[in-house]
Amino acid sequence: MAFGLTEGDRIVASPTFFPVPAVVRSAPLGTVERPLPLIIDSDPGLDDALAIGLAIARPELDLLAVTTVGGNADVRHCTENALRLLEVYGRPDIPVAEGAAGPLTGEVVRATAIHGEGGIGRTVLPPSTAAPRPEGAVELIARLLREASLPVAIAPIGPLTNIALLLRLHPGLAERIAHLSIMGGSIGEGNTTISAEFNIYADPEAAEIVFRSGIPMTMMGLDVTHMATLDAAAAARLRATGTASAAIAAELVEFAIERVGQWYGGTTTAIHDAVAVAHLAIEDLVAVARYNVRVDTTDGPARGRTVCEGLAHRMRRQGLEPNADVGIRIERERFEGILVDAFGRLP
Ligand code: BDR
Ligand code: CA
Repeated sequence: MAFGLTEGDRIVASPTFFPVPAVVRSAPLGTVERPLPLIIDSDPGLDDALAIGLAIARPELDLLAVTTVGGNADVRHCTENALRLLEVYGRPDIPVAEGAAGPLTGEVVRATAIHGEGGIGRTVLPPSTAAPRPEGAVELIARLLREASLPVAIAPIGPLTNIALLLRLHPGLAERIAHLSIMGGSIGEGNTTISAEFNIYADPEAAEIVFRSGIPMTMMGLDVTHMATLDAAAAARLRATGTASAAIAAELVEFAIERVGQWYGGTTTAIHDAVAVAHLAIEDLVAVARYNVRVDTTDGPARGRTVCEGLAHRMRRQGLEPNADVGIRIERERFEGILVDAFGRLP
């Protein structure tokens, strides 16, 4: 035993040696009077499913579309899951469009060991009456950005392939993006490799394009999302709300706890993606600090690492500027309450 830790205690976030102070968030905040137009780009996905439900339930957000990307599972499964989830959540009118099946370059990486072959564990959702939009993810996002009367926020909660393609194909639309609230990366340790978090590892070249874009952004990495956990009691709280949506969310959480336990140990699961969505609706939920974030696109052991520089004097020496707010702290109990409340309000 050392430092007061008993055997089995887990350090949930990688501490940094030189802590960087929290700053005022730069992400726009939706309000009930003026909901924030939002597009979720996702690879549903157990935690993606909770993030999408949260976006629909929160009155501060106006979910314009869900676009899909190959990531946790094959993109065909992700698209079908998005359509079916929206049906369960009572919003089959929200358009879904399918995007990239794999990364800009390199090998396809999946997280089916955690999320199951089909992306949502053993859960079988009723079929949806809706179909994916024929134009595909990138063109749907482009059209919504062009047509929206207000700048639109995007929450990319899967690999960043679609967003990088959007920026390459429609560079002029970057200024129509109010903010990117990204789930991905880590100041500290990764989860897919010691260096890299899954969403960035799955397409580092795309991530590098996005982080270099100059668009205002927040990176919700593992440092903060590993604090945003649910356990079996939380799943029971979800189920006890009595809604069909919450029953499904509970089932997904229980599956995630089982799989995460098999791979990493422990009895909880982080609901990573919901943190990126919650940040746009709830002002003081996530504390952030300003960092310069670069992505390692080499082929070595650090491939996919988000190299996060937060110290002003080191940034100056290297000619770097901060390019992202990075999540550093979230209150777990409050986050759980927000999810339980949200799913209790869905059908
Ligand atoms: C991220 O990877 C995926 O498996 C999750 O859905 C989340 O977006 C966490 O590393
Ligand atoms: Ca995801």
